[in-house]
Amino acid sequence: MPQPLLLTEDLTVDLGEVRIVDRLSFQLEAGRTLGVVGESGCGKSMTALAVMGLVPTPSRLGGRMVFEGRGLLGMPEPERRTLRGRRMAMIFQEPMTALNPVVPVGVQIAEMLVVHDGMPPAEAERHAVGLLDRVGIAAPDQRAKAYPHELSGGMRQRVMIAIAIACRPALLIADEPTTALDVSVQAQILDLLLELQRDEGMAMLFISHNLGVISEMADEIMVMYAGRAVERGPAQEVLLRPGHPYTRGLIATIPDPERRQAVLPVIAGNVPDLRFRTPGCAFAPRCGAAVAACADGVPALRPLAPAHEVACIRAEVAA
Ligand SMILES: Nc1ncnc2c1ncn2[C@@H]1O[C@H](COP(=O)(O)OP(=O)(O)O)[C@@H](O)[C@H]1O
Ligand code: SF4
Ligand SMILES: [Mg+2]
Repeated sequence: MPQPLLLTEDLTVDLGEVRIVDRLSFQLEAGRTLGVVGESGCGKSMTALAVMGLVPTPSRLGGRMVFEGRGLLGMPEPERRTLRGRRMAMIFQEPMTALNPVVPVGVQIAEMLVVHDGMPPAEAERHAVGLLDRVGIAAPDQRAKAYPHELSGGMRQRVMIAIAIACRPALLIADEPTTALDVSVQAQILDLLLELQRDEGMAMLFISHNLGVISEMADEIMVMYAGRAVERGPAQEVLLRPGHPYTRGLIATIPDPERRQAVLPVIAGNVPDLRFRTPGCAFAPRCGAAVAACADGVPALRPLAPAHEVACIRAEVAA
């Protein structure tokens, strides 16, 4: 068995008294994509920030996280900072918040190479133009001189991707990278990410609330609900034979291009308030298959098929 690039075991993130991420275990092999899906508030971003070492303070992390064979929890901040940028990088939903508004984008890309790779500034700026070209920006030598506000949303996201891949990280975390973009631009950015991943051999932790987008990107899928993994497995397996009622609900909300639906179906009810956790299955209040036993304890993940696990006591019956 090759060692996974990234492994978490019983990862928890607590903010004050509130458990945001609860005993989350997953693995990501080099060059593969793990798609993390769930409605807003399920703890996807917090999981990504935990991997990056960027959780808001004060928060407490528990469990185990191993990246390239090194434990991440308790790693001194200078080492962590070196990993970020060099070995792992992240892109966000809204690039404007991550870009510096008063620095030309070419210089911002070059800074990565100067800081992390020790490249001389002039060479780094030349290299930055090449990266802009690489992420599909036309007239890259001119665009390198532009400020973020002079670019479209799609172009800003391309700049963020250029910054993220500048030092050729082994892991790219993409947290809702296309959610703020028009549908046509969205498809272009997803294509770009797939192409870069293929060419660079990066692994990707790809996060979205949209299972339709996840299905185009992921090799494996992990479905999160209330900070927990409720289903995970090979993408096709999860999409074609979902075992968890929540996953089936998410699948039902994927727009069908054949039928022009005026109103998209949604899963009735709301995500739970994490401050008031109940002892049983967190999905129970919204679950059509719920029975009294669902309140007895948090259902553990158990195998439904090889490499396909579901945390529902009625997975076989409910399917
Ligand atoms: N800085 C914060 N302070 C307090 N609670 C937070 C903070 N960030 C996120 N949360 C809470 O953590 C939970 C998970 O958030 P998040 O990871 O952003 O979810 P997702 O990315 O799946 O939408 C939510 O209930 C949210 O309210
Ligand atoms: S454990 Fe019960 S409430 Fe939870 S998803 Fe399964 S059937 Fe529904
Ligand atoms: Mg989020």
